[in-house]
Amino acid sequence: MATQVDGSIALVTGANRGIGKEIVRSLIVAGTKKVYAAVRKPESANALIDEYGDRVMALRFDLTDAKTIHAAAEQAADTQILVCNAGVLQTATVFSEQTFDALEFEFDCNVKGLIRTARAFAPVLKRNGGGALVQLNSVVSMKCFPEFTTYCASKAASYAITQALKFQLAKQGTAVHSVHPGPIATDMGDAAGLTPIAEPASLVAEAIVGALQSGEFHVWPDSMAKQIGQAFSSFATNVVEVEMSEG
Ligand SMILES: NC(=O)c1ccc[n+]([C@@H]2O[C@H](COP(=O)([O-])OP(=O)(O)OC[C@H]3O[C@@H](n4cnc5c(N)ncnc54)[C@H](OP(=O)(O)O)[C@@H]3O)[C@@H](O)[C@H]2O)c1
Repeated sequence: MATQVDGSIALVTGANRGIGKEIVRSLIVAGTKKVYAAVRKPESANALIDEYGDRVMALRFDLTDAKTIHAAAEQAADTQILVCNAGVLQTATVFSEQTFDALEFEFDCNVKGLIRTARAFAPVLKRNGGGALVQLNSVVSMKCFPEFTTYCASKAASYAITQALKFQLAKQGTAVHSVHPGPIATDMGDAAGLTPIAEPASLVAEAIVGALQSGEFHVWPDSMAKQIGQAFSSFATNVVEVEMSEG
């Protein structure tokens, strides 16, 4: 299902830095009328507001706090495109001391945070004609890298939730997109030691605008993503993207 970006109203979580900031820029270049920057600290979006004036509006939003998410959904009641970008990564293998803490933290943000956001904004998108929900998953949703095992598990889980949303929100006319970047040059990429192989965040942002306009569900923005996406494509087309009976 394709979505008109030009003239639309969008909300991007984690818009203050990294991939989120580039998504705001690409949406504005593509003609989005207004972008809500949903961030933990509203002042962290000041640079974007300086750049784009009243086309960007900051809102308080914390993935771990449902009250802030519901308040954001009330304040941004005209949202048509929701980009669930905010996320966290920790370094933990199956055998690390911090494994369970990392798993709980990442699931609270990356998985429960997505569920909280989808529950608060699904009625908003429905009231505004359907629109679109974009979720930042990862290549690690498909392929586990052992040094980030708990993060990979959280991104595999958020991919499962995204698949459920694709079918459930289709009933209200909402397009859902699952974005699967490889290593991207952001604070998260740096913290994970990916700098030498990381590609620019603008690639992800431009791929998201392209997917909104074309309607494709799986989005593979960068070199590693394209390689994994190509290997995954038959499974994606013939299994993930088709409705199958559970009985
Ligand atoms: N970078 C990569 O290589 C890569 C690859 C594949 C997928 N991804 C995914 O892409 C998304 C963006 O990643 P990034 O690289 O841009 O990360 P980043 O540079 O670390 O930025 C993370 C963003 O998430 C926000 N955030 C963190 N915890 C939050 C919370 N509890 N509530 C609300 N916002 C919160 C941060 O806000 P603060 O500034 O307030 O901390 C920041 O805006 C994530 O979902 C990530 O998993 C990244």
